[in-house]
Amino acid sequence: MEIKELLDKLEQKNLEATEGGGADRISKQHESGKLTARERIDILLDKGSFVEIDRFKSHRCTDFGMEKQKIPGDGVVTGYGLINGKQAFVFAQDFTVLGGSLSLAHSEKICKVMKMAMKVGAPVIGLSDSGGARIQEGVNSLAGYADIFLQNVLASGVVPQITAIMGPSAGGAVYSPALTDWIFMVEKTSHMFITGPEVIKAVTREVVDKEELGGAMAHNSVSGVAHFASPDDESCLLKIRELMSFLPQNNMEEPSIKETQDDPMRLDENLRNIVPADPNQPYDIRDVICSSMDDNYFFEVQEHYGKNIVVGFARIDGKSVGIIANQPAVMAGCLDINASIKGARFVRFCDAFNIPIIIYEDVPGFLPGTHQEHGGIIKHGAKLIYAFCEATVPRITIITRKAYGGAYCVMSSKHIRGDINLAYPTAEIAVMGAEGAVNIIFRNDIKKAEDPAEERKKLIADYREKFANPYKAAELGYIDAVIDPAQTRPQLIEALRMLKTKRDTNPPKKHGNIPL
Ligand code: HXC
Repeated sequence: MEIKELLDKLEQKNLEATEGGGADRISKQHESGKLTARERIDILLDKGSFVEIDRFKSHRCTDFGMEKQKIPGDGVVTGYGLINGKQAFVFAQDFTVLGGSLSLAHSEKICKVMKMAMKVGAPVIGLSDSGGARIQEGVNSLAGYADIFLQNVLASGVVPQITAIMGPSAGGAVYSPALTDWIFMVEKTSHMFITGPEVIKAVTREVVDKEELGGAMAHNSVSGVAHFASPDDESCLLKIRELMSFLPQNNMEEPSIKETQDDPMRLDENLRNIVPADPNQPYDIRDVICSSMDDNYFFEVQEHYGKNIVVGFARIDGKSVGIIANQPAVMAGCLDINASIKGARFVRFCDAFNIPIIIYEDVPGFLPGTHQEHGGIIKHGAKLIYAFCEATVPRITIITRKAYGGAYCVMSSKHIRGDINLAYPTAEIAVMGAEGAVNIIFRNDIKKAEDPAEERKKLIADYREKFANPYKAAELGYIDAVIDPAQTRPQLIEALRMLKTKRDTNPPKKHGNIPL
């Protein structure tokens, strides 16, 4: 055959493969508000950078007439390209081909890019839009899922793994996303559940629709399974690009520097007034965070879940940092089960990927109550302690107001290897609030006093004078400096510059046993 003919044949095959399930199914995909796998990749990656692999790979199933249903690529588009100029690997399930269902060949394609990503040290992004296990393939399809789970776990902590749920994700198929670092969902068009509404109705008689059961907001605000919700495919993909800009390529690298015009020595006098003197008055910790960061910008993660703790990324002095902050505007910033889990996972991600952590602390303690105790606040709170104790990345804590009780210890205190611990003059570092403390330790003195109310008031004032301030902790060296809030940004930058070459290790072990 002449080369011309061979090239024509190649062109024909390429065309066939890129058409996926054909024009009708592509229209159906668009009508349901979703983009196709290839359209999604075009938005996700830098323009023209996508290199496809395994375009002609197809399944080997011969049951149920499947030998007549071979579509090149087999329902998943895989390859590599650039995001913000950096290498990334991608797989995008193509719902127009057999509902994006997963055959063994389909899973082999996914595993191939994951293994390559591990070898070269680049992130993996999976765009999920699939009816789950390819029913016609039986156990082979289950084998495919298990192969992917293994790769997810091996890659965990080596390269960042991101999943966007952009259609159905049902049954055991949810577990590959759940093993990755970040889950994005698209409102109305994406759903995740282990068992769908029909099965639930049959087994428990509970009636629930798929949106309420496993839609984007269900998983962003109730279960905490997902980290981001976006109104449509395009905004979801652009958000992934933004998240990637804060991350390094792998666990051996640091995130890249983004030059900024924002003066590192910039003072912000507004900060002197943001934290109210009254310990019971709420304020939004995000105002404090934004004030110190480059261009006042904070990229919040999991904003709809466990709102009493705020986590996310920002840049300071051009460098990427992870932020974890108690939120006095929600439940007074108490630590509860959800906040502990959310915070712990975030700290571990930052530590795995060399991202320094800045901690803003204003916490009255752990949330009391049977709901919390019986829900396991002891083991969940322990996750946050574990994560901080284990973290060896630079850690800077600023106590803005309350640092009470066990929560003082937890939030990256000096005792658990916090590197630099600062406090505002409004800080109150104590075992508990003044009222509570006086009620316990001076109960008898108050009873015996001539004027118990007056005595109680006096004792509270004494206690506050003695402990509800940062100076006792500073005297003991548990706080490195008490700072003017206006100087937060320069103070953080000086500390981060000093910590740039920090090295710390944990004892050699196979792995620890985090309380799960
Ligand atoms: C083979 C499938 C498929 C599957 C969908 N299709 N899911 N083919 N295996 N799992 C095919 C359909 O037959 C159809 O083909 C095309 O994809 C589009 O599907 P529709 O049903 O027309 O689309 P829609 O109405 O949008 O519904 C989407 C859906 C539904 C909700 C995902 O298809 C569905 O419920 N599928 C089955 C889901 C499921 O139970 N999967 C197994 C989960 S268990 P045609 O040719 O008609 O266009 C699992 C175990 C994994 O995944 C365990 C890992 C540990």
